[in-house]
Amino acid sequence: MSGANRLDWIVGAGKPLTGRIRVPGDKSVSHRAIMLASLAEGVSRIDGFLEGEDTRATAAVFQKLGVKIEAPSPQSRIVHGVGLRGLRASAEALDCGNAGTGMRLLTGVLAGQAFDSVLVGDASLSKRPMRRVIDPLAMMGANIDSEAGGLPPLRIRGGSALHGIDYTLPVASAQVKSAVLLAGLYADGDITVREPHPTRDYTERMLSAFGWPIEFSPGLARVRGGADGRHALRATDVSVPADFSSAAFFLVAASVIPGSDLTLEAVGMNPRRTGLLQALRMMGADIVETDARHQGGEAVADLHVRATQLRGIDVPEDIVPDMIDEFPALFVAAACATGSTRVSGAAELRVKESDRLATMSSALRALGIRVDEVDDGATIHGGRFVVDPAKPVVIDSHGDHRIAMASAIAGQRCEGEFTIGDIANVATSFPGFDTLAQRVGFALRDASA
Ligand code: S3P
Repeated sequence: MSGANRLDWIVGAGKPLTGRIRVPGDKSVSHRAIMLASLAEGVSRIDGFLEGEDTRATAAVFQKLGVKIEAPSPQSRIVHGVGLRGLRASAEALDCGNAGTGMRLLTGVLAGQAFDSVLVGDASLSKRPMRRVIDPLAMMGANIDSEAGGLPPLRIRGGSALHGIDYTLPVASAQVKSAVLLAGLYADGDITVREPHPTRDYTERMLSAFGWPIEFSPGLARVRGGADGRHALRATDVSVPADFSSAAFFLVAASVIPGSDLTLEAVGMNPRRTGLLQALRMMGADIVETDARHQGGEAVADLHVRATQLRGIDVPEDIVPDMIDEFPALFVAAACATGSTRVSGAAELRVKESDRLATMSSALRALGIRVDEVDDGATIHGGRFVVDPAKPVVIDSHGDHRIAMASAIAGQRCEGEFTIGDIANVATSFPGFDTLAQRVGFALRDASA
């Protein structure tokens, strides 16, 4: 974003974080709930829906495809499912906004339709790799054109006869796995997806909750192909847990801001999402889970965090996929720790909403932290965030929501103030982050105020 629409924050040393908060609903679950409820027979209610730009874009796409979706109150949706074969062609391109999850999962759904579709996204999404979904879907018989290099827009030809596949993912990606499984709803024959490392299993769990025949265990999913019309998705109510990835910013902030004592309520605790909790505990964090329970089939717990001095670690490569969205926050924790923290096996970070290894390394360097960046990771040397009042610092978020929020945490430990540029994309995943952060003690204000 630029010019008159650009939003910036000014951050500086904040107060200890205190209180009890609940972060918004899970982005991954919200996308999938809209998709499966739209393709189901009957009316589903979604509660705890993330009112983020990404998930609203997915709902708007299904509305364009002919699905009636009502919003009786914030964070609730009533979806009038049209059944697997009830979607209608859209005369316009379908805009996924900033959402990689939206575009990749929709590609799987649309590959099985009788009509053509075009998927487009914003400037950031238009630079993200789609070959990873096009290739396995083409092996199933789909017909999808992209721009050079496998980039969006994607033109998906309808009327293709899809068939089953036994596919081993070349990279650990829940989005690719999900695209293949969703295309399977329209395929002749079974679909098996094998993963090099287990990734989040929300698509599998939700397909099962909507009554689709599926078997899954960590690293493997097998769905019955739906071409024979013998199976249907049945409308089901979905209760969306609070997003661990949004809670992550507060877990790190309360761990590193001295004197903090903060509780995060009803956080989704799916083990494929909570790698950061393991990493922070290895670093010495004081985070206690209480009231562990289930909400709509998903594990949730309250997380009570108290500040401690963290120590640098080597992040085990086998937990990288379980914390794939949490590295911007982890980098800030590492900068506040004693000693060095080494991240490796994390090359996927280069193809997120920004190249997160590069954007976080340069953000920390601008604040006086030494970072050695390598192809698949970085070593972050703990230190102090300092800015020279004579030389104003502007951290460029590169329009990446998680870079903006991670930099805001760094600000709370910084002796001077600095600006975080281009923060509008925070609304893609965490609308209201600034207000919630201010309420618990962050020093953060709108630069235009
Ligand atoms: C997601 C999967 C992950 C993650 C993204 C959400 C999902 O992406 O980074 O924020 O909902 O399936 P990849 O599948 O590209 O790893």
